[in-house]
Amino acid sequence: MPSTTDLPLLCPVCREPLELLAAAPMGQSRLVCPSGHSYDAARQGYFNLLVGKGTAFESDTADMVQARSDFLEAGHFGPLAAAVAAAVVPCLPEERGAVLDAGTGTGHYLRAVLDAAAAQRRRRVAAVGLDISKFALRRAARLNPEAVNLVSDVWQPLPLADKSVDAITVIFAPRNAAEFARVLRPAGRLVVVTPRTGHLAGIAAVTGMLGIEEGKETRLAEAMGSHFDAETSTDVEIPLALTRQEAANLAFMGPAGHHLGRKDLSERLAGQPEPVQAQAHFRLTVFRSSKPAAFRPSKPAAT
Ligand SMILES: C[S@@+](CC[C@H](N)C(=O)[O-])C[C@H]1O[C@@H](n2cnc3c(N)ncnc32)[C@H](O)[C@@H]1O
Ligand SMILES: [Zn+2]
Repeated sequence: MPSTTDLPLLCPVCREPLELLAAAPMGQSRLVCPSGHSYDAARQGYFNLLVGKGTAFESDTADMVQARSDFLEAGHFGPLAAAVAAAVVPCLPEERGAVLDAGTGTGHYLRAVLDAAAAQRRRRVAAVGLDISKFALRRAARLNPEAVNLVSDVWQPLPLADKSVDAITVIFAPRNAAEFARVLRPAGRLVVVTPRTGHLAGIAAVTGMLGIEEGKETRLAEAMGSHFDAETSTDVEIPLALTRQEAANLAFMGPAGHHLGRKDLSERLAGQPEPVQAQAHFRLTVFRSSKPAAFRPSKPAAT
């Protein structure tokens, strides 16, 4: 757990700044605001900032998180982690950079960013890992103890001050473009990873996992359109040769895990020869904030 947050966090109730009160020996750290709202660190080190009724969102289960962690920690998506880190680190100033990983999951990609930042002498990178699943954050808090890991809903106002981060990563997670635009510094970048059409098609056909619909990429650009402009787009292709167990983890850790049982997936894969071959297709897009409408050069009138 960080001894200081180095980041302007906001109370989800009153939007006043939160201060981190570090743990006394054997005690719990707490985030507190001037109005007295207080959020204790969980034993594993994350903070739960969900307030009110919580959210209607179906969060990842402990078993799905375990499958994700096992699969990612085996390094199968290493080239993607490297591509994310390569996109993010140049956005961080040499001193006191800040990064938000929205929908951080087990914190795997944030770990890659922080390691690459340290290797490139970015000093004092403050990091926030945000996710709605406390099961995911238990792992993320263990993997990224120097980050502030927050249970929070990306569709609510983010618990961060305006213009407080240099980079935001969103890897297979929901995107609240208006809030990302609010918390990103003017020179900052938003790095979004999405699966492309044909992603894991072989495994999808066997397991009944949902495929990636055509037009997803266009919809991403449209959804970000009023707040962000795409700067670069890179395709990352990863050939996979997996054991049946790994292929089952891969199917179970995604949206399929919400409606297909682990046992069903393993049964469907039982007849597959090993290694199970598959191809991961990702797109990594770097966005920067659009200029406010008032400052946009006006388009020449159509004649
Ligand atoms: C497919 S996982 C990706 C996790 C991680 N970025 C990775 O690639 O390993 C999607 C993550 O988004 C989180 N998530 C879904 N809806 C969310 C929301 N409304 N607010 C915050 N996190 C959310 C899920 O709990 C899950 O951890
Ligand atoms: Zn408060």
